[in-house]
Amino acid sequence: MKERSLLITGGLGFLGSWTVEEAVRRGYKVIVVDALTYAANPENLSSLKVKFVVPSVRHLWGVLRVEDRRAFPVSDPPNYDGYGRVEDVEREVEEFLSSPLDALVILASVEDYELMKRLMPYVEGVIHLAAETHVDRSIEDAWDFVRAEILGFYSTVDAFRRVKGREGRFLLVSTDEVLGEVMEGALDETAPLMPRNPYAAAKSSQEHFAQSYINTYGLPITIVRPTNAYGPRQHPEKFVPKIIINALRGLPIPVYGDGRQRRVWIYAPDVARGIMDIYERGNFPDIYHIGSMDELENLALVRKILRMMGKGEDLITFVEDRPGHDRRYSLNWEKMRRLGWYPKVGLDEGLLRTIEYYAERYANRPSVRR
Ligand SMILES: NC(=O)c1ccc[n+]([C@@H]2O[C@H](COP(=O)([O-])OP(=O)(O)OC[C@H]3O[C@@H](n4cnc5c(N)ncnc54)[C@H](O)[C@@H]3O)[C@@H](O)[C@H]2O)c1
Repeated sequence: MKERSLLITGGLGFLGSWTVEEAVRRGYKVIVVDALTYAANPENLSSLKVKFVVPSVRHLWGVLRVEDRRAFPVSDPPNYDGYGRVEDVEREVEEFLSSPLDALVILASVEDYELMKRLMPYVEGVIHLAAETHVDRSIEDAWDFVRAEILGFYSTVDAFRRVKGREGRFLLVSTDEVLGEVMEGALDETAPLMPRNPYAAAKSSQEHFAQSYINTYGLPITIVRPTNAYGPRQHPEKFVPKIIINALRGLPIPVYGDGRQRRVWIYAPDVARGIMDIYERGNFPDIYHIGSMDELENLALVRKILRMMGKGEDLITFVEDRPGHDRRYSLNWEKMRRLGWYPKVGLDEGLLRTIEYYAERYANRPSVRR
């Protein structure tokens, strides 16, 4: 086994890419497995020295299909080097580990069990983020969530069990949504799982499998539940980017129901730092909540962003509420404080950086009020 090498799944996505960067900053060489779904963006790793590879023609077809319907403006598409056969992945990985590169990105699904087993001997640990993540899509049709979350997690964690067993560390990134609606106070890590939408149910299934593997095989799996993350690189379909992009374009900003749903917001790089702090200093197995003090109603968040962008509230448009929409999530994250972690970027500064990011990509720079 090579020292300080990590497998990070879903590393071309929003939180995944911030986690890959944070790991590289801490001296890890990172192998990413990402299926390049509509939510992935190769540009997210543009600050790093990266090689992209596609395991086979089968995977390449997937990549081409996805490239066709990308939502992101990708300024500099990467070169995809095909290596043909899954057996050749070992050669790719060995070359990568002795190279000056920061990351090797394998464009494949984590459901590829053979691939996952072949990668395990080369890494000391796994951080699993690959998932379908948009609640609205899961309400429309949850098949992709069942595949990515349940089959994908099973393939990854079982490859880990078979190859690494009790050696190494496995960190599963779950979500606050598995605990369901919390009308008062904040739930700590001992609260029972109460998923209330199909996305949360799929994420809870991951946690059930993880707990069963800890109990049955004694595996070192730790679960992390972050609250709502925002920041640069998030897919435009998500709430914060949608507010900003629509405001930039003078389009209506849809607010579900009465807009009084409460969420706790945290800047994505702070989550990535939390994930890596847990990976390096946390207990295995265990559960950790990652939260912040920035709790506000959705409508208040929209108003705040509009104010910062110098836009009027006339863009706010109330639309029919999401079915089963949870009113409030809230995590007690005292345990992370004890680990020495706390969020460094407050909501005002984080939103400012986020607005600047989308303004650069989606419009001429707006005047941003601090
Ligand atoms: N963003 C948040 O607010 C938040 C909060 C709590 C937890 N999480 C969790 O963090 C993780 C990452 O969330 P995100 O917001 O960065 O998501 P994202 O949608 O931005 O990125 C997901 C990434 O996973 C990849 N992926 C999907 N299916 C895959 C598969 N079968 N094989 C390999 N790669 C696959 C996608 O291509 C994409 O790059 C998820 O597990 C999510 O449940 C996110």
